[in-house]
Amino acid sequence: MPEPVDLSHNVNPHPAEACLAAARYLTEADLYDYAPSFRSGGRSDLGDKLAEDCKVEPEQIVIGYGAEDILKQALAHFVRPGEVVALPSARWRYYREMLDEIRGVAVDYPVVPDGLTYRVDVDALLELASTHRVRLLLLASPGNPTGDLFPMDRLEEVLLAYRDSVVVVDEAYFGCGDMRPDPAVLAALTRLYPNLMIIRTFSKRYALAGWRSGYAVIGAGLADFARVMRRYLGHSYPAERVVLAALRSEAHYERIREGFADARERLYRVLDPYEEATAYRSQGNFVLVRFSEARVPFVRTHVAGAGLKFKWFVGEPAFEHCARITLGTAEQNRRVRVALAEGMTISRFPPTLRKANYLAPYLLPDKA
Ligand SMILES: Cc1ncc(COP(=O)(O)O)c(C=O)c1O
Repeated sequence: MPEPVDLSHNVNPHPAEACLAAARYLTEADLYDYAPSFRSGGRSDLGDKLAEDCKVEPEQIVIGYGAEDILKQALAHFVRPGEVVALPSARWRYYREMLDEIRGVAVDYPVVPDGLTYRVDVDALLELASTHRVRLLLLASPGNPTGDLFPMDRLEEVLLAYRDSVVVVDEAYFGCGDMRPDPAVLAALTRLYPNLMIIRTFSKRYALAGWRSGYAVIGAGLADFARVMRRYLGHSYPAERVVLAALRSEAHYERIREGFADARERLYRVLDPYEEATAYRSQGNFVLVRFSEARVPFVRTHVAGAGLKFKWFVGEPAFEHCARITLGTAEQNRRVRVALAEGMTISRFPPTLRKANYLAPYLLPDKA
């Protein structure tokens, strides 16, 4: 039996060596004492570094235990029971669960497949601002599991339409896409739009999900939230040391990001020839694939037989017959492509091809 590999929850197996070193060299005092920020009025090295990278004031940085924590706290802080939160129609299922916990009311704006890419229907989103009293608008860029970026050329139109709401952009997968990321670009809008909050995490690009660390950049109108999120006794100091090591290892993470782009491209090449599979273009460390209903059992059998685990969607109609495949190591990605190629071709009936497929080059290992 091949070694089992879990590619179902979008973690990244490539932390920088410097992060491991930072964890190994933690001292006794780092463990038993509170973080030094406890003695410096809440300011921390991590907050200062993030403010510098995002080119914002330190007061605009909120640190939390991952993007999930910040999202939950933001919903609890801003939304009263019965108030409306606008969510993407095709979305990470936990958004709805978080909202249900605080008895908020979800209103969907359409995010729908358009060929090989999911797209936000921005006109419908603008329309929603005039028909509903939206307390909080949640945008996901990239979306999970859809992998689409919010169309940034229309963001200001949306921010103007929602200037009386809190607008949260979940950028958990920031820095995993095709472009070199610049943390300051979107952050600059928080100066113009005081109701804007951008949430990022160290779980994805920086491969530190286990440390539970993330941050938000907030506009001045949300300063109350920053106060609520301040911890008198500081945040986790060990996490801060490791996360700072990650932020100082950008060259490593740029290599990993380029590897994601290469692995996504190879996955598309394997699946694109088949009419029975649609690999949606993604800017995350994962790819969503929709199979025909008839093809699903063959693919599932080959994937399971190869010891691989994908996320198959159950009870989420938007993602019927879909699998979300997290990118792994180069060797794991090669195993994924081989299992998919087998699942697509070996069956009781022959596959329908969109175009001739010359798969051989894509069944080789990823670029190192
Ligand atoms: C879209 C999205 N937002 C937020 C998160 C939460 O990330 P974190 O590990 O920082 O809590 C995830 C995790 O998978 C996610 O997919």
